[in-house]
Amino acid sequence: MFDYTAPEKLLKNRVILITGAGNGIGRAAAMDCSRLGATVILLGRTLEKLEAVYDEIESAGHGQPAIYPLDLRNAKDEDYIELAEILEGEFGHLDGLLHNASILGQLTPISNYESRTWRLVMHVNVTAPFMMTQALLPLLEKSEDASVIFTSSSVGVQGKAYWGAYSASKFATEGLAQVLAEETENTSKIRVNIINPGATRTNMRAQAYPGEDPALNLAPEDIMPAYQYLLGPDSLGITGQRFNAQEMPKPQKEEAKITDEDSKVTDDKSKKS
Ligand SMILES: NC(=O)c1ccc[n+]([C@@H]2O[C@H](COP(=O)([O-])OP(=O)(O)OC[C@H]3O[C@@H](n4cnc5c(N)ncnc54)[C@H](OP(=O)(O)O)[C@@H]3O)[C@@H](O)[C@H]2O)c1
Repeated sequence: MFDYTAPEKLLKNRVILITGAGNGIGRAAAMDCSRLGATVILLGRTLEKLEAVYDEIESAGHGQPAIYPLDLRNAKDEDYIELAEILEGEFGHLDGLLHNASILGQLTPISNYESRTWRLVMHVNVTAPFMMTQALLPLLEKSEDASVIFTSSSVGVQGKAYWGAYSASKFATEGLAQVLAEETENTSKIRVNIINPGATRTNMRAQAYPGEDPALNLAPEDIMPAYQYLLGPDSLGITGQRFNAQEMPKPQKEEAKITDEDSKVTDDKSKKS
C-alpha cells in the first residue's frame, strides 16, 4: 500500500474538482478530500448520485461541496469554458483536478470491437479530460500549487487482450499526462501526475470481472493515501510521475538522459556505417 498518513486538515482552503464523483473511487476521493478540509466540486453525469454524495458530506459536517452535473460523452468546448467561468466566479482559483471518470467499453477482441464504442471510450477517457484540462489551466495557474491527477490502469502501460479501447485510452491518458507535465514543469506551479488505483471494489471492477469475489479487492476508501499525497502540499515539486495506489513508491533512480551531444554522436556513427 502507498505509505502516507495525511495530517489533519491537509487540504484546508483547497478547491478540488473530482470527475466521476458520484460513486466508486471518485465518491471516496470526494468524501476524503472534504474530510481533510477541501471544498470539493462533485462533477459527474448522474445528478442523483452527486446529490447523495453531497448529502453525505454535509451530514458528516465537512465543508459545503458544489455539484456540477456534466456528461463527458457530449460536453463541448463551450461547456468546459462555462465550467471554468463558473468556478472562477465562485472560487477564483482551482487547486486540484482529479480526472477519475472513465468507462470500460467492451471486453472483446479487436477484430470484434465496435468502432462506435471505441470512439466513445476514447472520447470519455481521453478527449474529455484533455478538453477540461485545457479550459481549466488558467484557473489552475491561479493556485499557489495546483495538482492535476490523471487516472490510468495497469493496462495503460501493458496492453491486454480483449481490453480494446479502454487499454488504448489509458495509454493515451499516460501520454497526455506526461506531455502536460513537461510543458508545465518549468513554466508554472502546476504539477501533473498519474495514479493507477489497482484492483478496487467498484462497479467498473465488477463489470470487468463479473465472476470475481468483490471481497478480494480493497474498497475505494482504502486506496486514498496516494490521492491525499498528490493533492496535498507534501507532493510539491513532484511532477510527471506515475503512482500505484496499492504499492509503495519505488526509490527514484537517476535517469540516464540522452543529451543532444549523445544523439549527435549516434547520428554521426550511423552515417559512417
Ligand atoms: N476499480 C478498479 O479496479 C480500477 C482499476 C484501475 C483503474 N481504475 C480507474 O479508476 C477510475 C475510477 O473507476 P471506478 O472503478 O471508481 O469506476 P466506476 O465505479 O464505474 O465510476 C466511474 C465514475 O465515472 C462516471 N462517469 C462515467 N461516464 C461518465 C460521463 N460520460 N460523464 C461523467 N461522468 C462519467 C460515473 O458516473 P455514473 O455512475 O453516473 O455513470 C462514475 O461516477 C477510472 O478512471 C478507472 O479507469 C479503476
